[in-house]
Amino acid sequence: MKWRILTSEEKMAKMEVKTSLLDNMIGVGDMVLLEPLNEDSFINNLKKRFDHNEVYTYIGSVVISINPYRSLPIYTPEKVEEYRNRNFYELSPHIFALSDEAYRSLRDQDKDQCILITGESGAGKTEASKLVMSYVAAVCGKGAEVNQVKEQLLQSNPVLEAFGNAKTVRNDNSSRFGKYMDIEFDFKGDPLGGVISNYLLEKSRVVKQPRGERNFHIFYQILSGASEDFLCKLKLERDFSRYNYLGLDSAKVNGVDDAANFRTVRNAMQIVGFMDHETQSVFEVVAAVLKLGNIEFKPESRVNGLDESKIKDKNELKEICELTGIDQSVLERAFSFRTVEAKQEKVSTTLNVAQAYYARDALAKNLYSRLFSWLVTRINESIKAQTKVRKKVMGVLDIYGFEIFEDNSFEQFIINYCNEKLQQIFIELTLKEEQEEYIREGIEWTHIEYFNNAIICDLIENNQTGILAMLDEECLRPGTVTDDTFLEKLNQVCATHQHFESRMSKCSRFLNDTSLPHSCFRIQHYAGKVMYQVEGFVDKNNDLLYRDLSQAMWKASHSLIKALFPEGNPAKINLKRPPTAGSQFKASVATLMKNLQTKNPNYIRCIKPNDKKAAHIFNDALVCHQIRYLGLLENVRVRRAGYAFRQGYEPCLERYKMLCKQTWPHWRGPARAGVEVLFNELEIPEEEFSFGRSKIFIRNPRTLFKLEDLRKQRLEDLATLIEKIYRGWKCRTRFLLMKKSQIVIASWYRRYAQQKKYQKIKSSAVIVQSYIRGWKARKLLRELKHQKRCNEAATIIAAYWHGTQARRELKRLKEEARRKHAVAVIWAYWLGLKVRREYRKFFRANAGRKIYEFTLQRIMQKYFLEMKNKMPSLSPIDKNWPARPYLFLDSTHKELKRIFHLWRCKKYRDQFTDQQKLIYEEKLEASELFKDKKALYPASVGQPFQGAYLEISKNPKYKKLKDAVDEKIIIAEVVNKINRANGKATSRIFLLTKNNVLLADQKSGNIKSEVPLGDVTKVSMSSQNDGFFAVHLKEGSGAAGKGDFLLSSDHLIEMATKLYRTTLSQTKQKLNIEISDEFLVQFRQDKVCVKFIQGSQKNGNIPTCKRKNNRLLEVAVP
Ligand SMILES: Nc1ncnc2c1ncn2[C@@H]1O[C@H](COP(=O)(O)OP(=O)(O)OP(=O)(O)O)[C@@H](O)[C@H]1O
Ligand SMILES: [Mg+2]
Repeated sequence: MKWRILTSEEKMAKMEVKTSLLDNMIGVGDMVLLEPLNEDSFINNLKKRFDHNEVYTYIGSVVISINPYRSLPIYTPEKVEEYRNRNFYELSPHIFALSDEAYRSLRDQDKDQCILITGESGAGKTEASKLVMSYVAAVCGKGAEVNQVKEQLLQSNPVLEAFGNAKTVRNDNSSRFGKYMDIEFDFKGDPLGGVISNYLLEKSRVVKQPRGERNFHIFYQILSGASEDFLCKLKLERDFSRYNYLGLDSAKVNGVDDAANFRTVRNAMQIVGFMDHETQSVFEVVAAVLKLGNIEFKPESRVNGLDESKIKDKNELKEICELTGIDQSVLERAFSFRTVEAKQEKVSTTLNVAQAYYARDALAKNLYSRLFSWLVTRINESIKAQTKVRKKVMGVLDIYGFEIFEDNSFEQFIINYCNEKLQQIFIELTLKEEQEEYIREGIEWTHIEYFNNAIICDLIENNQTGILAMLDEECLRPGTVTDDTFLEKLNQVCATHQHFESRMSKCSRFLNDTSLPHSCFRIQHYAGKVMYQVEGFVDKNNDLLYRDLSQAMWKASHSLIKALFPEGNPAKINLKRPPTAGSQFKASVATLMKNLQTKNPNYIRCIKPNDKKAAHIFNDALVCHQIRYLGLLENVRVRRAGYAFRQGYEPCLERYKMLCKQTWPHWRGPARAGVEVLFNELEIPEEEFSFGRSKIFIRNPRTLFKLEDLRKQRLEDLATLIEKIYRGWKCRTRFLLMKKSQIVIASWYRRYAQQKKYQKIKSSAVIVQSYIRGWKARKLLRELKHQKRCNEAATIIAAYWHGTQARRELKRLKEEARRKHAVAVIWAYWLGLKVRREYRKFFRANAGRKIYEFTLQRIMQKYFLEMKNKMPSLSPIDKNWPARPYLFLDSTHKELKRIFHLWRCKKYRDQFTDQQKLIYEEKLEASELFKDKKALYPASVGQPFQGAYLEISKNPKYKKLKDAVDEKIIIAEVVNKINRANGKATSRIFLLTKNNVLLADQKSGNIKSEVPLGDVTKVSMSSQNDGFFAVHLKEGSGAAGKGDFLLSSDHLIEMATKLYRTTLSQTKQKLNIEISDEFLVQFRQDKVCVKFIQGSQKNGNIPTCKRKNNRLLEVAVP
């Protein structure tokens, strides 16, 4: 057997658990498996799935999608990954599965694909088409260039939706145009570009919207989202109500942010590749359309009696002309006249008001629809594939859904025709595909009955008798043509048609049908009956724009508008009628159908669960109606015709192989043989299945479900088996583990126990051993001790013996030495005596004295020299003095110290000037007088004696006093004179001159008393720290009349010293200074005792003086 290395994808596939659509199904995921198959079960299945958020269900390869009307978390990137490269039936139904299938078959099998999305308005077609596109974008190639292409393709959606979608009663974002988009891929599956085709925009909406509906989104988006500046440029106002074309009753849509969408649209336009000026032009056209609606006309009678229309307010017209660059008069004329040209002849007729309004609206509609077509062309230019390589194509068709309104007009007719065609192609292709598969698989084809709507298509499009042909014929017919004539014609031609109903038809069937008004006809579409109002059919089919208007547009300087109306160019006048709207549409539908037929179709059939646009509501009747007209049941029947279910042999075997012993767990042979064995073994009746080439076909879903049940049962058995084996394995593993653990634990325990026993024996042995050793050692010790004691005793005895011996010897030796010494001394004395006697005659008697003196002299010399080096400083206050070296020099040393001190004091004094000398003399005098006597003295030592504290000569106040004293002033100071009567103090100037003591008034300077020094007998003061002093006067002298003076001064020591010195120098007598704490003073005739006592410190440090009685004056010194 050959081995090959698995690719990573295969490895992944092997690792993955194979899943199937059949797993965890809610209801049935594929309607083909529905049992029993009828409308009720069909709806119930859809409902059940819808209630469980399963909005997708298959009918074979067709996806039914129910609009959830809320965002479900099933479109995430993780989901994209989940569905990527998986088989269609592998996972639960999803639009991604269909997209993946289509994309892979395009990429891998080179088959062009088309995705046909159908359903009624609001069923979710546009959303589905976007989901398909985004899925394909997510899974196809990557790279900067590819990403740009993808981005452009995706961003074309918001642009087209803004211009082509509108809010209708059925859908807030209803597509008002059909869209078919071909996405082109290269051979690798990378997107190259795309082509968009648009079908018939519902342009009537531009000028009129049914109640509850809006105009196209873009109008509201501009007004809400554009900046003031931009609006101003477009000459627009933000207020919706300003514009006649904007239906007011639903200007705002819930949950839609027009302003934000406007930004999205602009951004998308930029991404798609619109240049700034192009975007600007587009918005200018939109603005012009909006403003056209505001032009109003009034009738004006003319001379010829006809009515002519005139524009009411030309302001709007003016602004439109400014926006579009059209000459105002040209446009104004185009709204008033109509020129008909026939065979070189031009006839101009005036327009009446109604015609003018018709012309205005026709212009607005044309302008907008042409702009829309231009946008599609412009987008196509941008997204066009840039290379010419062969392309693979995936077409996505999102066409307006089947519509039945209250009033159905030409547009609904066209839309429903298109849907009819799509249904037809659906039926054809489904059947074709089914048939092809049968042929491919070699299974016999059985005919299937189904409703073919070809007959309805024929009713509409038949070239001779079709309704569209009738309409064209009527439009081209000369003579008066009205909608009624058209209906008449229809009544004639189609009367017998099964699907045509009209009150006026020749067929009498509907003559009494009051539900069918006369102006209407009814068609039984495949999706239901629709009644069309015939009014407007002719006009809308003609789609006429007066030539004057198209010419006026062509004349615009606005390049885009000019380009939109090429037929307005007079040089290219074409008198041929343009093709009618109906025939144009028919042609484009035909092209589309042809295009679709060449591609592999994939269907998404959208269903709307309710009419309220609400989530969680499932309206059975509404859904039933859609199921009917979409022919879904038929679809299932066609799919089931013959065989309900088919599956490839390999997945089938893989899924059911566990049901048969031969195929389980591995089947070595081919898959088909395996399936055959399996089905035989299961005894499935032969008519229930057929073997195709690659698939097994199962006739009845019952058989499949039986298989599924068996599988489920078997899976449960297998699960039980696996569980059983697993449990057994788990128990055994656990048992083995426990056994192993037990052995390990036991061995460890034994080891531990033995270890402990060994430790115990060992320690016992050690103890016994130590006891024995101890005993032995102690025995040895005892012996050794005994031996030692014996040795010691011997030694001691020996020592004593030796000691005795030695002492004896020592005694003997000492005795011997003493004797020897005595001999030596005696010998020395003897020798000395002998020598002295011998040498006496040679020595002088005073030699010893000289030596003594010399030694003394040397010592003194050394002493003085040392002193010289250790001399202290010359400062008189330095107390240092070197230590005395010899005891005998003690008194000399002290004397020397005294002399040195005196000498250095003298040296110090010698430096004094005469003045300093005088000061020091005074200070010395003060010290002699007061040191240790007066407590005030120590404080005065540091104060220099200044004498003249009052500078009398400098102070002009004292000029008189100065003049009165012509001698030199020794002291001039302010003192307090104590009042003799009450002890109170008064300030006085105290002057001491060479001869006198003067007291003068401090303020005036008048002399109060003058005492010659000779009259001062004594000065008394206390020993305390106060400045009081008494000046005693000689009795009987001139000044003594009032008695002695009791004064107080801050400079008492200085004053007393100076007074003493001056008195001494003048009278040559020493002034008596008495220091005592109690002294007598003479006040007039009284002798008063002045007593100094210790006072409180109440007044600080100031002594207080009080006259106690006429004998006592008390001074309290603090
Ligand atoms: N798969 C979805 N998930 C969530 N909401 C959805 C989904 N499909 C549709 N819808 C909702 O339904 C609304 C209508 O869907 P959509 O516009 O696709 O309808 P439509 O079939 O295109 O209708 P029309 O024919 O009027 O254009 C959407 O605007 C959206 O709100
Ligand atoms: Mg749509």
